Amino acid sequence: MRDSLHRSRAALLAALLLVAACRPQPAAAPSPVGVPSAIVEPRDATRVAQAAADAAFPSGWRFPVGVKATESEHAMVVSNSHFASEAGVEILKAGGNAIDAAVATGFALAVTYPNAGNIGGGGFMNIRMADGRAMTLDYREMAPAASSRDMYVDANGKLTDKSTFGYLASGVPGSVAGMSEALKKYGSMTLAQVMAPAIRLAEQGFMVDSQFSRSIASGRHDITPFEGKAVFFPGGEAVKSGTRLVQPDLARTLKLIAENGPKAFYEGPIADSLVAEEKRGGGIITKEDLRHYKPEWRTPIRSTYRGYTLLAMPPSSSGGITMTETMNILENFAPLPPAGSVKYAHLLAESFRRAFMDRNSKLGDPAFVKVPLDRLTSKSYAKTLAAQIDLNHASKSPAFDTKAERTQTTHYSVVDAMGNAVATTTTLNGSFGSGVWVRGGGFFMNNEMDDFAAQPGTPNMYGLVQGEQNAIKPGKRMLSAMDPTIVLDPQGKLLMVAGAAGGPTIITATMEVILNVIEHHMTLADAMRAPRLHHQSLPDTLRYEANGLSAATLDSLRAMGHAVAPNRGGLANVNSILRVPGGWHGVNEPRSAGGAVGY
Ligand code: GLY
Repeated sequence: MRDSLHRSRAALLAALLLVAACRPQPAAAPSPVGVPSAIVEPRDATRVAQAAADAAFPSGWRFPVGVKATESEHAMVVSNSHFASEAGVEILKAGGNAIDAAVATGFALAVTYPNAGNIGGGGFMNIRMADGRAMTLDYREMAPAASSRDMYVDANGKLTDKSTFGYLASGVPGSVAGMSEALKKYGSMTLAQVMAPAIRLAEQGFMVDSQFSRSIASGRHDITPFEGKAVFFPGGEAVKSGTRLVQPDLARTLKLIAENGPKAFYEGPIADSLVAEEKRGGGIITKEDLRHYKPEWRTPIRSTYRGYTLLAMPPSSSGGITMTETMNILENFAPLPPAGSVKYAHLLAESFRRAFMDRNSKLGDPAFVKVPLDRLTSKSYAKTLAAQIDLNHASKSPAFDTKAERTQTTHYSVVDAMGNAVATTTTLNGSFGSGVWVRGGGFFMNNEMDDFAAQPGTPNMYGLVQGEQNAIKPGKRMLSAMDPTIVLDPQGKLLMVAGAAGGPTIITATMEVILNVIEHHMTLADAMRAPRLHHQSLPDTLRYEANGLSAATLDSLRAMGHAVAPNRGGLANVNSILRVPGGWHGVNEPRSAGGAVGY
């Protein structure tokens, strides 16, 4: 009797403890700097379920909570094109690994998502094999040999639009070399095998939907001055929803690459077409530039956040350093205030501000400038920065005018049944890049030269104000914000694959989705739908998605000294995967088009 009373008391106590552990965290003020904060909070099902039950978005916010993710048992591909995600899964089902599938997805995006998917641009691939090996591949574009520091500044010292539009805007493309290199080193199939779905999509065509048609229509200004007009504006109108879009020139180009490897692009007939196009329009990319292009394998930036491991992209992208620096700053505040609160918005803004100040002044191509990577990603440096944050008042960055920001680039995430993972972000920079379309080649060229500090101290198309470290030099890679990221749980097991499009908002949005999952215990679907914030130091403005912060929260942020500005289109374009009990959740960007496909 006594024994059974004891047992039931113990059971009651255990139940109470469990309930207490599962209760939402109180909205405690973050601890001041100096309080140990390496709290490992493994993502367990009970906490996630509780967080999902408690989840609420501000009233008037465009997305509901509680939407389901795409679920799969074995593998998942998430990209901005359903066709491209299907191409990746086709390769996985045929026995390919995540790298095979990523390359298949990348080439398919060049066909079905021409605003950012590409062979005329560049990108970054973050790979983690199931056995723990981790590596990144930098296939960023390079400045042509004939480029020069002030090539975009006119005789009156004014910055022209030539870094964003037309023939002079392109760097030497890296995508074909990069995807081929990744496949050769870590794939298990041939180029011909993994490119088959892309070739089929170009040759036999695919059904245009309203989203694709709208995106082409929005590119009229960039596309129609060049030869891509005939493909995308037949009869002068944007290709219509419900029509089958066939791209025979692109199909021929892809077949040449599939049959002859990247040499076809860098030295063979495609190089001939590309250089001929450049010559016709006054561009400066030569056969020599193409022949010299080389992707670079780099060691990922490996950092920790409350016991989780982040594998991120080192320079020539700023993504990994800026994310690591910000996460390290935030780690000094435990726990973080609740998502959506004034305190959280303030802490994010102040942490982003500090990391972007470093990003904009200290980073560049490591082959040309000394990048203080170790210092910027160290916990001790972050502690110093965290100590400067006033929990009640905004700091100040000097103000600059800025241009409107658009969402371009594209990110795709892949996991296979073995547990290999690939995060890839690739871009032409602006939608449809420079607008220049290579006749005979059937593809758009990038306008990546604008990611250099075309005139150090002056804002680029993203409003980023950058310094000499990122000035133009022949053969140099322009600094990127691309941030393909892989997250491991505290046991070192693959947890998340994420990344985004959207210039500097890539970094902030990728990080916010990761924080929503590992700090706020949201489901991936809620983490992706939650309102996003962005601060990049200059302009000194906290950007928020319209209706994503309540009027009262905005008032409080203003009272703390923040300039705040709404973003109506949506901040960034994230595609992500999360390991869940029994398989995977995949979520393509709810603010845009795409597909999460698994099996
Ligand atoms: N073109 C966008 C980026 O690389 O950040």
